[in-house]
Amino acid sequence: MKTPRILVTGAAGFVGSHTVDLLLAEGCQVMGVDDLSTGRMVNLRSASQSPHFRFVRADITGPAILDDLCSGFTPDAIIHLSGLVSVVRAQEEPDLNYRLNVHSTQLVAEAARRHGTRRVVFASSAAVYGDHPDLPLSESVFPHPISLYGTAKRASEELLLGHATSFGMETICLRYFNIFGPRQDPRSPYSGVISIFSERFAAGQPVTIFGDGSQTRDFVSVFDIARANVIAATRPGLSATVCNVCTGAPRRLLSVLDVFRSAYPEAPEPRFEGARPGEIQHSCGNPERATDRLGFRAEASFETALRDFIESTRPVPAPAEAPMLAVVR
Ligand SMILES: NC(=O)c1ccc[n+]([C@@H]2O[C@H](COP(=O)([O-])OP(=O)(O)OC[C@H]3O[C@@H](n4cnc5c(N)ncnc54)[C@H](O)[C@@H]3O)[C@@H](O)[C@H]2O)c1
Repeated sequence: MKTPRILVTGAAGFVGSHTVDLLLAEGCQVMGVDDLSTGRMVNLRSASQSPHFRFVRADITGPAILDDLCSGFTPDAIIHLSGLVSVVRAQEEPDLNYRLNVHSTQLVAEAARRHGTRRVVFASSAAVYGDHPDLPLSESVFPHPISLYGTAKRASEELLLGHATSFGMETICLRYFNIFGPRQDPRSPYSGVISIFSERFAAGQPVTIFGDGSQTRDFVSVFDIARANVIAATRPGLSATVCNVCTGAPRRLLSVLDVFRSAYPEAPEPRFEGARPGEIQHSCGNPERATDRLGFRAEASFETALRDFIESTRPVPAPAEAPMLAVVR
């Protein structure tokens, strides 16, 4: 069987680098492109050792970049993960949000069409649902994003579905829920609560809970996200679709806090502050369509994945100082 050739945009990012690692482990040839605006080469340390991986540093919205990549590499699929991931910055800079989160998708879709790449997998988001009351959220509900970031993700989905209808392309839009795991940048304003907790607990600093901690989220391990991406890019016979990538099992913020507190029993007490205006109280996706259409199901146990993550981010204690040797003259 022919070795799949996969182009990954945003390859040096949190999701991108785990996706590249898994593609390589599954025997694919991988080309990664990233402008390193938020991604880091250290994330690709292991991938860079592979003879099956090539990396190009470039802004994919630059002239002819995607054409050059597609004509040189001839990918079977493109996994489009690059984008402006900060919801706050997207709100502050709508033109930048449009260029990185909508225009880039159009460029990917058109480069794929021109170069005969049949399949495009796209990193969409639960943000397309906005604050929808019908939980768990199914793909059949009408999306109503409440941020420019969510709107851009929704527009990108439509652009890709238009390419599927018009040109027979296989465009698979994956609506990720709350992702956590190694390599997530805790300083990013988009970063999830788990990576912020991990940084603060590791530094011995108190965490702040906004509201009473009863809010719930559908947390998905980045390893499951990478697996969904790889299935969507490589499984034969898939047709155009939009699917949630979630667990369907919401967790309360207080139960996440408990896991951290048991890992760091000496940590200072958390602070509680008033709920942030506009914050969604509950979020949970329905995972059934991804199982039906892609054969994907989130497998990581939340507690185990969270404990593994906490251990991976725990500071390494400094070695005990060597005893002073007496100098005998
Ligand atoms: N992390 C989450 O919880 C989450 C949830 C839903 C959706 N998403 C989506 O998943 C995708 C990956 O997110 P992430 O968390 O890995 O973020 P990330 O910032 O770690 O990764 C994005 C990568 O894209 C690169 N990039 C940005 N603009 C580029 C451009 N024009 N050309 C080339 N490279 C560019 C960045 O340098 C970075 O490496 C994004 O599209 C994001 O919107 C993430």
